[in-house]
Amino acid sequence: MSESQMKNHESCGAGCACGAESEGLLISSIGRRKFISFGAYAAAAAALAGCGAGGGADATSPSTVGATVKISDYATLANVGGVAITTVSGIPVAIVRTSTTSFITLSRICPHQGSTINQISTGFRCPNHLAQFDTTGNWVGGQMTSNMRSYSTSFDASTGTLTIG
Ligand code: FES
Repeated sequence: MSESQMKNHESCGAGCACGAESEGLLISSIGRRKFISFGAYAAAAAALAGCGAGGGADATSPSTVGATVKISDYATLANVGGVAITTVSGIPVAIVRTSTTSFITLSRICPHQGSTINQISTGFRCPNHLAQFDTTGNWVGGQMTSNMRSYSTSFDASTGTLTIG
């Protein structure tokens, strides 16, 4: 396996459309010499495609944020439906006001390959391969990937603070 092919497999992981799992099958069905020649073409094709069939290794957001924020610090959260694009505890997040007393907090670390997700009019979109998510972080189109990670979030109306787990 060439260096570029190995790199490709590192980034896409098992089950990628570039065929890492099926090499043994290929060798036995087409013969080693043809396989080696075929391998060069396959590596080039996989590099061009960037293993973009949804098999990319998922980037992992931290499992917790562990912080408390003041809602009044974010003007965009004054009204229901408002979204604050910010960073809390070093983690890029989107805080969404879903009612007068409830909020959700989503990691903006793209579950596909870790780029930082931006807000768009219908929700969120990753600028890297254009994975798109609705306002609650569910994947809805573009590059196939998981939903945005959601953190437990509780609102204390008496203090106007949000505790993000
Ligand atoms: S990093 Fe690929 S869609 Fe976000």
